[in-house]
Amino acid sequence: MLVFRTATALKKQLLLQKKTVGLVPTMGALHAGHVSLVEQACKENDLVIVSIYVNPTQFNVLEDLENYPRNLDDDQKLLQPFSKKIFLYVPENEDLYPNGVVSKTYDFGSLAMYMEGLSRPGHYNGVATIVEALLKNTSPARAYFGEKDFQQLQIIRALNTRLHLGVEIIECPLIREKNGLAMSSRNQLLPPHQREAASVIYKSLEVILQKANTWSLHEMKSFFVSEIEGLEGFRVDYFAIASPSDLIPVEQLKPNQVYRVFVAVYVGKTRLIDTVELKRI
Ligand code: PAF
Repeated sequence: MLVFRTATALKKQLLLQKKTVGLVPTMGALHAGHVSLVEQACKENDLVIVSIYVNPTQFNVLEDLENYPRNLDDDQKLLQPFSKKIFLYVPENEDLYPNGVVSKTYDFGSLAMYMEGLSRPGHYNGVATIVEALLKNTSPARAYFGEKDFQQLQIIRALNTRLHLGVEIIECPLIREKNGLAMSSRNQLLPPHQREAASVIYKSLEVILQKANTWSLHEMKSFFVSEIEGLEGFRVDYFAIASPSDLIPVEQLKPNQVYRVFVAVYVGKTRLIDTVELKRI
């Protein structure tokens, strides 16, 4: 597997290849969810660039950045089966932030105002800054992002359209652990008993989906909060149901609508997110 530390070296190699390029941007600590993105990208492109870069500007809490799991050796092992089709891009700060590690300011309107945008001020400016830099450095035909970060996905779609980057943004399905917990690099930070107990997040969402046509939004939220906060060390950061297109949380559920449920839960100091589609008949 070829590993590149700079965009200059990467671009030079890409020019020689003349292949369709897919990009899978990651922050490392790879898991089966990332592998599914890489798998799909390998099917749909001649060459796949997997970037690994823990982007400081998208962390609004220093402790979260410092604790974010990093293990390049393990990541490389996990990517080994795809090594013939992959370029690994592991840039240093200077490569992506030549003028200092600060984010640009974007206006994504309602897309960035609620859920993660509200709970993590500046987060999406950081994400958009780095995704813009990665897309410009790699010029892919397609870029792959997971449904788990649905709000991020919609913002990246808006970024791509607004900047006329011409990349096909591909949404890949959320992958879950056996117990239903949404796969996340942050799951590694949980001790085994909490990782098991965190299955309550998806189990509660499943109940809510079963009651999609009978419960009010208020009943859904009360149920979720009581299930989660009934466990020691668990706390709900937000529970929101929003339209998938503008991501504005609604107050009431209407018939014949497709919504998206967004949740963020603290398990001790680790913050986990999940999302499911909810259809009201
Ligand atoms: O989803 C992620 O892992 C990150 O937000 C991304 C898209 C790699 C940007 O740092």
